[in-house]
Amino acid sequence: MARLGEYEIRRCEKEDIPSVIEINLKTLPEHYSDYFYYEILADHPETFLVAELRGVLVGYIMCRVEYGFSQVKRLALARKGHVVSVAVDDEHRGKGIGTSLIAAAHSEMAKKSATECYLEVRVSNTEAIALYERLGYKVSGRLDAYYRDGEGALVMVTKVEK
Ligand code: ACO
Ligand code: ZN
Repeated sequence: MARLGEYEIRRCEKEDIPSVIEINLKTLPEHYSDYFYYEILADHPETFLVAELRGVLVGYIMCRVEYGFSQVKRLALARKGHVVSVAVDDEHRGKGIGTSLIAAAHSEMAKKSATECYLEVRVSNTEAIALYERLGYKVSGRLDAYYRDGEGALVMVTKVEK
């Protein structure tokens, strides 16, 4: 799908899920049942992407495409991408992999007729928030006590194009 230096961004396959789960467990406090990953892959294969370095998975992005009220245009309905989870292995951060995963997912969602994309992020996750802002995301809302430990989330949204 895309090559950036030594890294390749490609669609996630079933066989990749154990590695995706491993990266999730190492990098994020939000975990899901194994079933959840397979279900998203089955339902939204176009927007479940991985970053691979010499045969090793170092990052993933898992998204859904939903239909509902736009967070960009008031009172309009829209097809919306939803970044459920994105993560890059600690050792490989700061090399543009997260940016490439998100950009590739945006382009795939746009092909599925999404016109915007949203996500939730911990209010304390300044690194991820800064990255989303650089990619054009703006804060569209705030969810108090969104996470199990009581921390709140920012809802961020951006327009997407093919
Ligand atoms: N580590 C992280 N960032 C660095 C580092 C480093 N060692 N060094 C420099 N940076 C800078 C980069 O230069 C870059 O800034 P730039 O675009 O101005 O150059 C920025 O930080 C990171 O951009 P990328 O390299 O494209 O992103 P990366 O591959 O590091 O992935 C991510 C970003 C996914 C947020 C990663 O930090 C991560 O996995 N964090 C933990 C999991 C997480 O918080 N995920 C998001 C949760 S919210 C959600 O999933 C919807
Ligand atoms: Zn979400």
